Amino acid sequence: MKRKGILLAGGTGSRLWPITLGTSKQLLPIYDKPMVYYPLSVLMLAGIREIAIITTPDDQPQFQRLLGDGGQWGVSFTWVIQERPEGLAQAYLLTRDFLDGAPSAMVLGDNIFFGHGLPEVLTRADAQASGGTVFGYHVADPERYGVAAFDADGRVTMIVEKPKVPPSSFAITGLYFLDGRAPDLAAKVRPSERGELEIVDLLEAYRAEGSLQVERMGRGFAWLDTGTPGSLLDAGNFVRTLQDRQGMQVGSPDEIAFRQGWIDRDGLAARTRVFGKSSYGTQLASVLRE
Ligand code: G1P
Repeated sequence: MKRKGILLAGGTGSRLWPITLGTSKQLLPIYDKPMVYYPLSVLMLAGIREIAIITTPDDQPQFQRLLGDGGQWGVSFTWVIQERPEGLAQAYLLTRDFLDGAPSAMVLGDNIFFGHGLPEVLTRADAQASGGTVFGYHVADPERYGVAAFDADGRVTMIVEKPKVPPSSFAITGLYFLDGRAPDLAAKVRPSERGELEIVDLLEAYRAEGSLQVERMGRGFAWLDTGTPGSLLDAGNFVRTLQDRQGMQVGSPDEIAFRQGWIDRDGLAARTRVFGKSSYGTQLASVLRE
């Protein structure tokens, strides 16, 4: 069965208040694009064309204004509401009908990935028909994330959410490839002390049966944080530095749709006209000229 995508863009973004009192965190700019373009691009790079977008009730109209129905990129969006931020694992309960038994790739709307070989990493995870694949990334501050512990043979022995004493420096990124059983397994997860259905508890169910792969993303990858004002600015500067130097875009759904063959040259030309003289539009024009 073909893998479907979930883009989770709920939450209150409270660590960015007051910025996010008036708008969703995932709509904030990362240099020249809205944040949500970057994780969306990851799903598209993985070849996924059916995507559920989960937002708060208040923010849904803004996301719809920005992203439409996906037809402009040859993909389709299904809109799902998360009433309250009750945990990442809840996403699988909310998308049960949408998934309809299919395997999924879920990405968090504030996670930005960049790296040579990312498409190959995604293809490998997609090829895994049963069980799950998640990604471990070495960070300086693992206590802020879900963290994996490994045994001497490199097998994952445990995944814990925001541990005070991290068992390793490998954070689990917000990109989860799970098989079609994810909604059933998520239904068995009980709320944690902070009242959320934790993603690590769902992953633990896979790990316990020996079907969870933790693939390490090496130092050649960038997994950027956007959770604080400083890291938000850093992520924007990172994208700007790369784009200005290379003259190529990071996280452009339009370019990816074109390279995947989901829209043709006329389609891309029409999109380029929409964006006109903006930096994004100018970059699309250069893709057209190639
Ligand atoms: C969430 C997950 C955590 C994961 C992180 C990745 O944390 O709970 O396991 O490592 O996303 O971004 P949050 O950002 O919601 O605190």
